[in-house]
Amino acid sequence: MWEEGIREIVERYRGLHGGLIPAMHELQRLCGNYLPEEALRELAEGLQVPFNQAYGVATFYTMFSVTPRGQNIIRVCESPPCHLMGAQSIIEILEDELGVGVGETTPDGRFTLELTSCIGVCGVAPAMMINEEVYGNLTPDRILKILNKHR
Ligand code: FES
Repeated sequence: MWEEGIREIVERYRGLHGGLIPAMHELQRLCGNYLPEEALRELAEGLQVPFNQAYGVATFYTMFSVTPRGQNIIRVCESPPCHLMGAQSIIEILEDELGVGVGETTPDGRFTLELTSCIGVCGVAPAMMINEEVYGNLTPDRILKILNKHR
């Protein structure tokens, strides 16, 4: 099912300096928020990059995952400004609400809860991202509203 998509990604990025990471982002989107080994292997081969290098990138950056994740990835910022503004209680509310811990996916496959370092909106700490969208000034009420939007 993703074979056709991989061919297109390879065509776009083959020979492009620094193309591996954006190609992996596209592959991850194509495969439903993670990089199955078989797909990553095919991408690496197509881009003529050693598989070990691609796998190393996939496991080094937190934005990539080599294990299945939910449809929506929630990333709570845990850097000091957000931490000082109560990121820990945000994490606890999300854990309670979703019934999973950090690094886990809800049984219905809808959400994966993760932590991240600064996402660049320290002025509105505490903050989190759901997929590509950034949310700041988080309060318990606001978190529930945001979650409901994604349910
Ligand atoms: S420290 Fe959280 S957004 Fe910068």
